Amino acid sequence: MEIRALAHEMMPEIIEFRRDLHRHPEASLQEVRTTNRIAEELDKLGVSYRRLEPTGIVAEVKGAKPGKTVALRGDIDALSITEKTGLPFASECDGLMHACGHDTHAAMLLGAVKLINSIRDSFAGTVRFIFQPAEEIGEGAKLAIKQGALEGVEGIFGMHIAAQEPVGLVSGKAGPSAAATDQFKITIKGKACHGAMPNTGVDAVVAGSALVMNLQTMVSREFSPVDPLVVTVGSFHSGTRWNIVSGEAVLEGTIRSFSREVHNALPETITRIAQETAATFRAEAEVEYHCITEVLISDPEMTDLAFVAANKVCDPAMVKRSERLQMGGEDFAEYTAHAKAAFMTLGAGGEAPQHSDHFVIDESAMEVGIAVYSQMALEMLAK
Ligand code: NI
Repeated sequence: MEIRALAHEMMPEIIEFRRDLHRHPEASLQEVRTTNRIAEELDKLGVSYRRLEPTGIVAEVKGAKPGKTVALRGDIDALSITEKTGLPFASECDGLMHACGHDTHAAMLLGAVKLINSIRDSFAGTVRFIFQPAEEIGEGAKLAIKQGALEGVEGIFGMHIAAQEPVGLVSGKAGPSAAATDQFKITIKGKACHGAMPNTGVDAVVAGSALVMNLQTMVSREFSPVDPLVVTVGSFHSGTRWNIVSGEAVLEGTIRSFSREVHNALPETITRIAQETAATFRAEAEVEYHCITEVLISDPEMTDLAFVAANKVCDPAMVKRSERLQMGGEDFAEYTAHAKAAFMTLGAGGEAPQHSDHFVIDESAMEVGIAVYSQMALEMLAK
């Protein structure tokens, strides 16, 4: 358990670093202080890095001999939530909070940099550490990839802390685990007229109402029943007055899916249903479609490697295969579409769920995180 012992040793400084980030949460693409703090720590270690634009940082530690390059990713951004934990190191920034644990991800990844750097004479290859910004808005992974974070990488591992799982429980799942998250906006154009003479106009409320119902047939009639799919219309705005037929309706919503095939077919499908439903009522529909995250699909071999690693540095009773599909998106998914990748979950024994203003984690879980991150990289390099 040498790796675990090394992780254990550095816990006081890693906790201190995590608490510093926790006090100073920053919104997506505004993680300037966070990036600078990470850079400072890397400077102290003499580890080389380059900054991403506008925020984020990619560090690299080369082993004694040339070999493969493996990447580890930790996200660093916070959420627009006002913290109510009452912790002594609670957020000092009103309206911002590390309520998803990305402060722990940054701290654990820094721990892995320290650990890997301290044993760099013992392995061949390169470990790249991606301190990724803007996960919460689904922009960070895309930005990092565009700026070369995956260049030359043979595999990438990510990890997310899970507040409500037992402390130190490491789990993962080969195949899909987090949904592709898409956002749509449909504008229905009709023609306003007097509510007493609807035949003289085109009613956008009626067309929009029919569309809300027809969109659900995507789930029941368009795609395989064994591929989970959720279509939600979250807002529907139309009309100005009780006795006027509304000339425009705007519907906004989200679609969650778990297969690349389904995901790729969604824009065309929703556009067809929207336009043809609108046409039924003599109206027109315009569809704006935005993919926020891809479906997160862990490679089976990479997942096996992650489990081998976890079993080496953890009590095997605390390492479990998961079968759970998470409906929320995770932008690590973007890496899984471009490289061999695996994503793991680390229990942190809290009570409140992720994104709650009472989100608290047991910091001792970070020791496991540092060790698992490090061992996953070593496992991949040695393979
Ligand atoms: Ni998160």
